[in-house]
Amino acid sequence: MNVSSMLALLTVGFTVTMTSHPAFTETADTAVEPLVLRKIMRELGKNMQQISDSIARENWALITKIALRIADHPKPPLTEKIRILAFIGSDAGKFRDYDEKTHQAGQELRRAAMQEDRTEVISAFATLQESCVTCHQSFRKSFQENFYEQR
Ligand code: HEC
Repeated sequence: MNVSSMLALLTVGFTVTMTSHPAFTETADTAVEPLVLRKIMRELGKNMQQISDSIARENWALITKIALRIADHPKPPLTEKIRILAFIGSDAGKFRDYDEKTHQAGQELRRAAMQEDRTEVISAFATLQESCVTCHQSFRKSFQENFYEQR
């Protein structure tokens, strides 16, 4: 027996076990652990709100601090990174470029805030926001389908 037919058999066996076991199918909907990436993203979302609020208050010191958190945002653990890379495959370079753009835009915003340059802060904030949305447009939906939705 070759490898692919062995794999096919294993897959069939697994599917049968899962569907014929009521307890397993019942928990399957809720068993999906959210990615650490999602937590990191939520934090980024909060950071953006704080910055938007701080622009209105012209609190440059706070923007300086929070922009650095965005620029140095944490990465998911290695095991999750491997899962993500395995999923995005040949799009990995694109994903990295988008991430790099966000890091850079965070640094730009930080510099502008340090100089207390309102116009530059607003423009850097817009660039930063654009960098978030660009990646979301390419990846968010497929992550949702791959990592969360039951097949
Ligand atoms: C390199 C790609 C990439 C960049 C850059 C990026 N994101 Fe995300 N973001 C994602 C992906 C992928 C998801 C979906 C994650 C998930 O659902 O597990 C996501 C989801 C989110 C969510 C939704 C989280 C939830 O509760 O479902 C928020 C909020 C968010 N990102 C904020 C941001 C902000 C703010 C920035 C920029 C400062 C940013 N992201 C930059 C890829 C990116």
